[in-house]
Amino acid sequence: MFRSLKARLDFAVPAAATAGASGLYRPPVAGTSHALPFQRQGGEPAPAGASRSNGALAATGVSIAYTNSSTGEVTPAVSQIDLTVAKGEFVSIVGLSGCGKSSFLNAVAGLTAISGGTLVAGGVPITRPGPDRAVVFQRPSLLPWRTVLGNVIYGLELQGIPKREAHRRAAAYIDLVQLGGVEHFYPAALSGGMQQRVNLARALVCDPDILLLDEPFGALDAITRETMQKELLGIWETTRKTVLMVTHQIDEAILLSDRILVFSDRPARILAEIVVELPRPRPANVKALPAFTRLETRIWELIQETARGRGRL
Ligand SMILES: Nc1ncnc2c1ncn2[C@@H]1O[C@H](COP(=O)(O)OP(=O)(O)OP(=O)(O)O)[C@@H](O)[C@H]1O
Ligand SMILES: [Mg+2]
Repeated sequence: MFRSLKARLDFAVPAAATAGASGLYRPPVAGTSHALPFQRQGGEPAPAGASRSNGALAATGVSIAYTNSSTGEVTPAVSQIDLTVAKGEFVSIVGLSGCGKSSFLNAVAGLTAISGGTLVAGGVPITRPGPDRAVVFQRPSLLPWRTVLGNVIYGLELQGIPKREAHRRAAAYIDLVQLGGVEHFYPAALSGGMQQRVNLARALVCDPDILLLDEPFGALDAITRETMQKELLGIWETTRKTVLMVTHQIDEAILLSDRILVFSDRPARILAEIVVELPRPRPANVKALPAFTRLETRIWELIQETARGRGRL
């Protein structure tokens, strides 16, 4: 049985892969793991020791509310989030569907205005999107008339990077996401996984300080998703970017993260903050470790509690 069977509320839930009504999927059994294509042997030390005061991102009392322009009705989405993310840290957010995860991520991206508190990236208040933050959404958003290479260098062109330098940088990231050989393909000729790799390369090539991932593999099939998780792990171990990722997959969050934030039901608050004390680089059999399974159970129980509060379990 695949461990990453997608079981969102809005999809049919396979009987053997019970997700409950939370929209999160907890694998029924921890199993084996495949080789990590990008894993470095003897990489740099984990950023666990990184000082939080060396913050890449700082949220203080952040609230987000949407106002319906016709009715004036206000929908509070996020309430009083306090969070510091250290440079080079990988932090994931999990929570019920509709609780406010994307709203918070979009606020960090500068795409959604906050209605209270302060949100600071690299010491500068966030008011709009900027080259210091790159976002990868659930579905690839590639320019169909541009090749893989053309898509990856697009952001560099906008920044006025000379063509030769742009091509050199793009080639390195195309290799990193294992797309060497298809750089002249158009998006229509790529699989979903390949397209999402292009999206990752496109985000990374601009060398952002913070990488924001909103269910980056949510639209992929189970096997491709598992492959991409391991590739992302390898890419992160190579680049050591600061990452904030939203996911519905508890095992994905544990595999990749230094810390996991469990959001409450809407308006989202931080219900729990869980430090993932698993070794880095993550061993190939990490999902089979008892510590991994214990974390899964703990997070799953927290999610179930919030789902009960919503009357969905
Ligand atoms: N642009 C918007 N205008 C009005 N309401 C919005 C807007 N975006 C989100 N919302 C509302 O804010 C709440 C939180 O939405 P959000 O997209 O942040 O949830 P989420 O946790 O990312 O959910 P999912 O896991 O399903 O992606 C929801 O009630 C949603 O309807
Ligand atoms: Mg979302």
